[in-house]
Amino acid sequence: MSYTANEKRYDVMPYRRCGRSGLKLPRMSLGLWHNFGAKADPDNAREMLLGSFDLGITHFDIANNYGPPDGAAEITFGKIMESDLRPYRDEMIISTKAGYYMWPGPYGEWGSRKQLMASIDQSLSRMGLDYVDIFYHHRPDPDTPLEETMQALVDIVHSGKALYVGISNYNPEDTRRAANMLAEKGVPCLLHQMSYSMLNRDNQAVIDILPELGMGSIAFSPLAQGLLTGKYNSGIPADSRVMTDGRFLNKDRIQEEQLDKVRRLEDVARARGQSLAQLALAWALREQGGVTSVIIGASRLGQIEENCRALERLDFTPEELAKIDAILG
Ligand SMILES: NC(=O)c1ccc[n+]([C@@H]2O[C@H](COP(=O)([O-])OP(=O)(O)OC[C@H]3O[C@@H](n4cnc5c(N)ncnc54)[C@H](OP(=O)(O)O)[C@@H]3O)[C@@H](O)[C@H]2O)c1
Repeated sequence: MSYTANEKRYDVMPYRRCGRSGLKLPRMSLGLWHNFGAKADPDNAREMLLGSFDLGITHFDIANNYGPPDGAAEITFGKIMESDLRPYRDEMIISTKAGYYMWPGPYGEWGSRKQLMASIDQSLSRMGLDYVDIFYHHRPDPDTPLEETMQALVDIVHSGKALYVGISNYNPEDTRRAANMLAEKGVPCLLHQMSYSMLNRDNQAVIDILPELGMGSIAFSPLAQGLLTGKYNSGIPADSRVMTDGRFLNKDRIQEEQLDKVRRLEDVARARGQSLAQLALAWALREQGGVTSVIIGASRLGQIEENCRALERLDFTPEELAKIDAILG
């Protein structure tokens, strides 16, 4: 069946300006870290991507190494671009990243000019694209001079292979240095992508400095890989990430202390008329200290639909926030 996008796709999704740039991001973005690899069901992958676009999700987040195997998510995405989404390319914000292990030898990871220049070409080829909208340095490199990594990002923009650049997993000090270097070179840093959720607030400090740097913020794993949906509260479901793909979330990482907090958050969600997942996403997007956009993952379209309904209620009373803080400790 050929695809025609939902005519009402821009009616509901709110979009927010990313830092001091001209770019607006949907408050909810979709990530392809899981469930888009070579063994994933291609029909399900297509249904999730097209269903997301129909909901007004214009931003799709990928990385060179998403799979498995490495590169497979970009290939899956490229196929769906070709079969269905090509006419909508100008309505889409596609990001990819380089920095984690991708190929053998000294140039297959981290932040050298050699790694970034080769990786962007590989990513564009796998996705069948002329350019990506956002190209990230995926993680800080302790050995490569930051100046070299940032110059590579600038040159990638000048070559037309990316429209904007971002950084991911940088600490506040390196974020500041990177942002200043990029600004001096005339290619401002669009945004920072960091882990952030009710169960992982370590990056609040970096989020708080981004406005003064003119950067936006985008939170990954806002549901703590599914923990914040409550699905693990009374055992491990057979169709959950822990059972279907335990590479990054396994039984050992599910701790009773966290589950106890999640169970107590259910009362707050219920009182707000939201599911736990919706509460967690609304909290990450809240006006008081929240982020520009969240990148959700999903294993089926129904989850994306449920999660988007979080956008119906993003406001929090001071009492609700205090109650949540008391639970999170
Ligand atoms: N920059 C980085 O270093 C970095 C690192 C990690 C991720 N990311 C980005 O962030 C994206 C999202 O990460 P994530 O997948 O960990 O995000 P997440 O939203 O915290 O977790 C997504 C998972 O939770 C479960 N889930 C989602 N909605 C649900 C619902 N309504 N009900 C029940 N279960 C639900 C699904 O897993 P199951 O159904 O399989 O249980 C889904 O795959 C990635 O795709 C990637 O683009 C970036």
